[in-house]
Amino acid sequence: MALPDMFLQELISRNPITDVVSSYVRLRQRGRTAVGLCPFHGEKTPSFTVYPETSSFYCFGCGAGGDTITFIKKIENLSYIDAVRFLADRCGMKMPDDKTDDAVSRLRMRILEANRDAARFFHRMLYSPEGREGLEYFYKRGYTDKTIRRFGLGYAPGNNSLLHEMRRMGYKDDELTAAFLAARSKRNNQLYDIFQRRVIIPIIDIRGNVIAFGGRVLDDSKPKYINTSDTLVFKKSNGLFALNFAKASKEGSIILCEGYMDVISLHQAGFQNAVAALGTSFTKEHALLLSRYANEAILIFDADSAGQKGAQRAISYLRQSGIHIRVVTIPDGKDPDEFIKKYGPERFKLLLEKSANDIEYQLIQLGKKHSLETSDGRVSYLREAAILLSRLNSSIERDVYAGKLADELNVSKSALLDQIERYRNVAVKNMKKAELSQAIRQNEGVIRKVNPEAASNIRASRAEEGLLGLLILNPDYIPAVSKRLQPDDIVTGFNKNLYIKLLERHKNGQMIDLSFLASDYQEDEMSYISRMVQNARENPGTHEQALEYADIIISEKKMLLYSNPENLPEDKLREMLEFIRSQKK
Ligand code: CTP
Ligand code: MN
Repeated sequence: MALPDMFLQELISRNPITDVVSSYVRLRQRGRTAVGLCPFHGEKTPSFTVYPETSSFYCFGCGAGGDTITFIKKIENLSYIDAVRFLADRCGMKMPDDKTDDAVSRLRMRILEANRDAARFFHRMLYSPEGREGLEYFYKRGYTDKTIRRFGLGYAPGNNSLLHEMRRMGYKDDELTAAFLAARSKRNNQLYDIFQRRVIIPIIDIRGNVIAFGGRVLDDSKPKYINTSDTLVFKKSNGLFALNFAKASKEGSIILCEGYMDVISLHQAGFQNAVAALGTSFTKEHALLLSRYANEAILIFDADSAGQKGAQRAISYLRQSGIHIRVVTIPDGKDPDEFIKKYGPERFKLLLEKSANDIEYQLIQLGKKHSLETSDGRVSYLREAAILLSRLNSSIERDVYAGKLADELNVSKSALLDQIERYRNVAVKNMKKAELSQAIRQNEGVIRKVNPEAASNIRASRAEEGLLGLLILNPDYIPAVSKRLQPDDIVTGFNKNLYIKLLERHKNGQMIDLSFLASDYQEDEMSYISRMVQNARENPGTHEQALEYADIIISEKKMLLYSNPENLPEDKLREMLEFIRSQKK
C-alpha cells in the first residue's frame, strides 16, 4: 500500500494544512502557527496548534497530533488510504494506482453500493402493491410524495425479499452482513433480512452516501425502531440525520430535534435546517459536528422527562463546543411533528422566534423546581441560579442575568454577583484541575498503549523520544548519530522501529517528515511521535545534544543487559565490569 513519495509530497503541498483544518476548526493566526479549539476533545481555551512549516498539528490539551493525513483520518473517521483519497479529491489529484486499495476500503465501497441499491429497492417497494401499507402510513402522517421522494423513504416488505434481490444483484453474504442489511440466524445459520415490514428512512451523509437505515414499525409493536448498528461506513455516535440537507440551508443555525419523523415534518414545513441524532442520545461528537456547520443550535426536545434530560445533556456538550444555544419548549407536551400538523408552520415559526437561550431556559426549569412563594424556596432557587450563572464565561452575560434575577426576586444585584463570583472561583479552580489531570491521563494512556516499555525504562525512553524528535526536525543530524547509535542499542521496541525507519529513509535519500510516517502508524502512534516532535520544537537541540541522547541510550541499554549477567557470554562480562568501573569514576 506504499504510495510514491512524489505523490505524497505533492498531495501535502496542494492541501495546505491550515486550509484543510480550517474546514473543521476556526483558526486564529498566532505568529507562524495557527490555533483553535481542539476538534478531538471539548475545551474552552484553544490548545490545538497547527504548524504550517511542518504540515503538522498538535493539541496541548489531549495530546492528539500528526500530519495532514492523520488529521483527516481522525476527523473523518477514515482509513489511511481513504484519507489520502479524500485529500486527492479535495485538490483534484488522481490516485497513483487504484490497485493499491486494500481489502477494507474495498469492503467499505461494497457496503456503500449495497446501501444505495437497498435504498432504491425499499423506495421502489413503497410504490408497489407489497408496500401499500407503508405508503398509507406515510400519507397518514401527512407526508407528501415530494417529501417521500426527497428523503428517499421506503418500505421493507419482509419475506427476505431484500436478501433475494441483493443476491440476484451479485452481493455476497459477507457484504450484506457487513452492511447490517442481513444477519445470520442462530437457529439455522441462514441469512435473513434485518428490516422487515417496516417503513424505511435512509440516512445519507454530507457526501451523499447512504450510510445507514432507520426502520419504523407501522403499529405500536416493539421495538419501534430498528437502526443500523456501527459498520465500516457508519458510526452511530457521530452521525446526524438530514445534515446533508441542513448543511446547505445556510441559515447559520441548525434545529436539533429528537426523532426522524420530526425532522421530516419540519423539512416539509420549510425548516430545512432540522437534524436529529440517530437512535442514540446526543454525544460530544454530535456537538462538534454541529458546531462545524452552524453557529447556533436550536434545541427542540419532547416535554417528557426523557426529553428534558436529553436537552440538558445536549446543552452541556454544545456549550463546550462554544456555539450559541436556544431552547424551544413546545406547549402541551407535543413534539414538533404533532405541533406543526395541528397549528401549521407559521405558529411554529413564532415558537422559534420567541425561544429562550439556554440560560433563560435553565432558569425557567429551576424556577419550576422551587416554590418561590416561601423564603426557603427563594433562597434555594437563588443559590442554584447563582451556581448556574457562575458557569458563564462572559462577565456581560453574568451581569445581565444577575440583573434580571435580582429584579425578579427583589434582591440586591451586587450581593447576587458576589455570590456568583464566589462559586465561580471554586468552579474555575476545579475545572482547571480536572482538565489538567484529564489531559495528563490521556497523554499517559496513549504512551502506555503505544510504547508499553516506556514506563519501565523511563530514562531510556525519555532520551529516545528526545533524540527521535530532534532527528525528525533535523534529518541532517542522522549521519553522525547513526554512526554512534545502532538500532539494537535502543531500549524500547516502538522507538527502535521508528529509528530504523528514519535511518532507512535517510539512506534512500527520501524525505523525513511526519507525512511520510502516516502510512505506517495508527493515530495514537502518530500522537506519540508528534509529542516527540513538539518537545523538540520547544527545546531546539543541537547536534551535540543529539549525540548526548545517543550516549544516554547506549548506557541505559548496557545497564539493562548487565542487570541479567547470567545471560552474558564471557567477553561481554569483562566488558561489563569495565563499564561499571568507568561509570563509578
Ligand atoms: N429511537 C430508536 N429506537 C426506539 C425508539 C426511538 O432508535 N425504540 C430513536 C429514533 O431515532 C427516534 C428517536 O429516538 O426517531 C425519537 O423517538 P420517538 O420520539 O419515540 O420517535 P419519533 O421519531 O417521534 O416517532 P413517532 O413520532 O412515530 O412516535
Ligand atoms: Mn413523534
